[in-house]
Amino acid sequence: MAEAQFAPPVLDDIRLARKMLIGGEWVEAISGKTFPVYDPADGQVIADVPAGEAADVDRAVAAARAALAPGGPWRSMTPQVRGQLIWKLADLVERNAERLSVLDSIDSGKPINEMIYFDIPFSVDVLRYYAGWPTKITGDTIPISYPARSGGRFHAYTLKEPVGVVGAIVPWNLPLLMAIKKLAPALATGCAVVLKPAEQTPISIALLAQLTIEAGIPAGVVNYVTGLGESAGAAIVDHPGVDKVTFTGSVGTGKAIVRSAAQDLKRVSLELGGKSPNIVFDDADLDAVVAGAAAGAFATQGESCIAGSRLYVQRAVFDEVVQRLADHAASLKLGRGLDTATQMGPLISAEHRDKVLGYVEIGVAEGAKVVTGGRALAGEGFFAEPTVLVNARPDSRIMHEEIFGPVVCAVPFDTEAEVLALANNTRFGLGAAVWTKDISRAHRMAAAIESGQVWVNCYQAADSALPFGGTKESGWGRETCRETLEEYLETKTVVVAL
Ligand code: NAI
Ligand code: MG
Repeated sequence: MAEAQFAPPVLDDIRLARKMLIGGEWVEAISGKTFPVYDPADGQVIADVPAGEAADVDRAVAAARAALAPGGPWRSMTPQVRGQLIWKLADLVERNAERLSVLDSIDSGKPINEMIYFDIPFSVDVLRYYAGWPTKITGDTIPISYPARSGGRFHAYTLKEPVGVVGAIVPWNLPLLMAIKKLAPALATGCAVVLKPAEQTPISIALLAQLTIEAGIPAGVVNYVTGLGESAGAAIVDHPGVDKVTFTGSVGTGKAIVRSAAQDLKRVSLELGGKSPNIVFDDADLDAVVAGAAAGAFATQGESCIAGSRLYVQRAVFDEVVQRLADHAASLKLGRGLDTATQMGPLISAEHRDKVLGYVEIGVAEGAKVVTGGRALAGEGFFAEPTVLVNARPDSRIMHEEIFGPVVCAVPFDTEAEVLALANNTRFGLGAAVWTKDISRAHRMAAAIESGQVWVNCYQAADSALPFGGTKESGWGRETCRETLEEYLETKTVVVAL
């Protein structure tokens, strides 16, 4: 058995993913079929997990609908108790930080230090942030003018109700965190969830599913279904019993979800890709710039929707910034995610590594020059070198398509107007950063850049209370903030003749 390369207790946690959690019970796929999950650091199979299909999604949706039945434990729970259960889940994630970190690191390849210092604390924060919301979700009482026309007197108000069953489809780059970003607002608003991890990275989410039961969240409120995107994922989106789909992943799949959701007009939230500009003016603090540009390009192996993949540097400091970034890239220690010395892990699959390095080839064919990196590492695992490119033409594919790997294209500019036009010349609009000591310029740029968030003199700063999401083809809706709650709620207007 391939998973025998791991010993207990990690082995026991990996084995959790042999089953799915539906209606509070751990079950196999109805078909009995499974599919393999790989360790990207060596290409070995680490687990065989249930290949859920439409019939399994049917069961999960039925369990979720049953959990929403009027008078059931979830619907009759007070908001305060609901909040306490979410807080308890946060405590359990915190208490099991090491187990969850190990699982995501094995499964996605990412450095375990990123799990310990970013994914886990952020996941706990998101849960605690939303744990405070159930008691604060309120409708309005609304004075209306209708009485004057009808001669009657009326009392009007709104009720906020859970949208219903939420299909949550998550990607493989930050598996646990992405799942929790969807689960937390769904629970806060009283929805029930069918949660599908990416086929590459289910294991930490199996443990998360178990923790929801340990926290006391009633059976059927959180259902965890594994399976391929085109079968289990598509079945969730197609299912008439699902009221809303929340998705993080590729633009292509996001568009397919919108087309499919049009059948019954389910609600859709989408957090899609990016081609985020990282803009450096020549008055910036270059130490901070190099650290921020490196984090923007190489954190999570560059497999990040907010990767700072287009680095625009004002001409006077261009050579220096590029050289320092290239030196930093070349110094990064690549290795197995579980090794605490590792600074960058493998890419998620051989296929994805080939796609990423294929972009380097395309870039070079279109005139770009490799300053550092650009190759696969010899030996086992799906490693690609951190890569810095220059001389890419503004119209070349590498300046417009999401590479989703450790590849950054550096481009010089002269004026603010010029860089603004370059930055906005994209179909994406997720992240952007501006580095400058000129406060007026920083605010002018922040206002003019077309994206969901702009960081000034920092990169990727994220918080559970800050709206996160994209404009243009980077998606619909926001996560981790107050307004996200509205995406999981329906408003019902009640008018009473007095
Ligand atoms: P994908 O968008 O196909 O997969 C993401 C999730 O969607 C997975 O859970 C998958 O099972 C599910 N899925 C796939 N097809 C589906 C369908 N027809 N209906 C419902 N669910 C479906 O992304 P993939 O193929 O893993 O990666 C391709 C590219 O997508 C990457 O190279 C990257 O550019 C981008 N991506 C962006 C992410 C982000 O954070 N915005 C995360 C992952 C990928
Ligand atoms: Mg896909």
